[in-house]
Amino acid sequence: MVTALTITPVAAHECDALASLMRRTIEPLSYYNARAIRAELIKYTAHTLRTLASAEPQAVLVARRGADIVGFCVSRFDDGTIWLSWFGTDASARGQGVGAALLAALASTLPARHAHKIWCDSRVENVESKSVLERAGFKRIATLTNHWYEQDYFLWEWYPS
Ligand SMILES: CC(C)(COP(=O)(O)OP(=O)(O)OC[C@H]1O[C@@H](n2cnc3c(N)ncnc32)[C@H](O)[C@@H]1OP(=O)(O)O)[C@@H](O)C(=O)NCCC(=O)NCCS
Repeated sequence: MVTALTITPVAAHECDALASLMRRTIEPLSYYNARAIRAELIKYTAHTLRTLASAEPQAVLVARRGADIVGFCVSRFDDGTIWLSWFGTDASARGQGVGAALLAALASTLPARHAHKIWCDSRVENVESKSVLERAGFKRIATLTNHWYEQDYFLWEWYPS
């Protein structure tokens, strides 16, 4: 039997485990250069995650199967919109709909956060991310070349239907 997936805001005591999962997910990504990886890892320690979650509870969502955290979605309120900073799935749980479920859970936070849309970026070579964003109904709105950390990105947006 497959254990059901649940997605909720992260609890303070889970931030150490979440920071480890984010490090395991981000560090090996070949889509980003070393400077980008270094800068992103500094942003997501257990301490910063706790601070983000206490300022805005819906900002840090985690997906769990039983006691295991298998995915995460970090976002922030940005002048009436929601900026999706990172979402990710533990390597051992990919391709099982966790990424899609995290995006659906993020979408459901919009009314409570008084936001009318989500936007985010992805590296243009990130085929897994592109695939799951498109399937969730995100539209590609721009390509930014030679942008953050001198790399190329798609910009995406999503509106409730
Ligand atoms: C992007 C990511 C979150 C998707 O998580 P997931 O739990 O595997 O997502 P899902 O199971 O819902 O969907 C996976 C999708 O990737 C697709 N996919 C997987 N490997 C792929 C590949 N090599 N090429 C193209 N598509 C691929 C699957 O086909 C599926 O898309 P589909 O439903 O349209 O077929 C996951 O790959 C990840 O954590 N990547 C590393 C972190 C990252 O890049 N985050 C996004 C930053 S913008």
